[in-house]
Amino acid sequence: MKKILVTGGCGYIGSHTIVDLIENGFDIISVDNNSRSSTQLLEGIEKITGKKVKNYKVDLCDFNDTHAIFEENPDIAGIIHFAAFKAVGESVEKPLLYFDNNLSSLINLLKCVGSFNIPYFVFSSSCTVYGNPDSIPVTETTPTKQAESPYGYTKQMGEQIITEFSRATGGKSILLRYFNPAGAHPLGLIGELPIDKPQNLVPVITQSAIGKLPGITVFGDQYPTRDGSCLRDFIHVSDLAHAHTLALQYLINGKLKGTTDIFNLGTGNGITVLETIKAFEKVTGVTLNYKIGPNRPGDVVAIYANNDKAKNLLGWNPAYTLEEILQTAWKWEQKLSEDEKLFTGKNITLN
Ligand code: WQD
Repeated sequence: MKKILVTGGCGYIGSHTIVDLIENGFDIISVDNNSRSSTQLLEGIEKITGKKVKNYKVDLCDFNDTHAIFEENPDIAGIIHFAAFKAVGESVEKPLLYFDNNLSSLINLLKCVGSFNIPYFVFSSSCTVYGNPDSIPVTETTPTKQAESPYGYTKQMGEQIITEFSRATGGKSILLRYFNPAGAHPLGLIGELPIDKPQNLVPVITQSAIGKLPGITVFGDQYPTRDGSCLRDFIHVSDLAHAHTLALQYLINGKLKGTTDIFNLGTGNGITVLETIKAFEKVTGVTLNYKIGPNRPGDVVAIYANNDKAKNLLGWNPAYTLEEILQTAWKWEQKLSEDEKLFTGKNITLN
């Protein structure tokens, strides 16, 4: 059974990917400093898979602590690297935090990949590397333009660092460009756990719907889109998770030509912010309180994926619809709220 190191394994996409990897026969260890996650999701993983996953509470920005994990686990067969800060808006406000955290951690990890000859590396990249594309949907050969945020820059630089590293060492790597991850595992035992006030649209919607947030601000409705709000491609987190398993198997089965390849992970369906709000209301019957506010610095106007390459080469077929994305997200939010009531005996309202 191949042992895979998942960085950011206590996080949203990391936890869902661990479930999929375990269900596909891999042995997993996680490294996550829990600065923006909690071990609660490891409990959910155990309930779903029956497997207890060991997490090393280590900051990958600390080289010695990171190196010690590899010394303790000489049988690591591959790495899936999620651990990074990922809020576009925050990165505009705190660029150094993002460059330092996201790039120092990656470089430390790659130093260990080289020292311990880890053969396979899968990187959590993002559609933000395309910047504001001239045409949509984007394919993997769509030129990456100037990033719109420091977050996007860290993903562009991360891709370059990994590409050159793999070229120099002969190691095999895959860069997965996520579109907008959303939703939760259908069993409602793991999902998105924003540590502070959420920044992403779907958790903002579900927290508004449950009453944790007073309402939603739509960041701009004067964009050149069909209804003036930004356009995105929401992909269910479980579909996204399975793509990582397929990418790892693709590497292990020796199918990668060259040393690095790139895949878009989106559904190929574009939907606007306002359409997403209306779809949530339709799916759940909950009326949302929203208002139009100013544009958010760093936002891309419109982007959605051409996912033919992942379908054809990885055999990936995203199955969840937008309705199921919103339904599972809502189910998870309701469960969190029930757990909080049980834990504290009262309703929780965050300002
Ligand atoms: C989506 C749209 C906002 C909140 C995300 C991840 C990033 C990367 C790409 C994976 C934008 C609007 C949001 C709100 C709003 N994913 N919005 N009101 O910026 O596309 O980036 O996907 O790597 O990690 O962050 O996602 O959900 O923040 O925003 O109007 O309260 O929703 O302006 O147009 P984004 P998002």
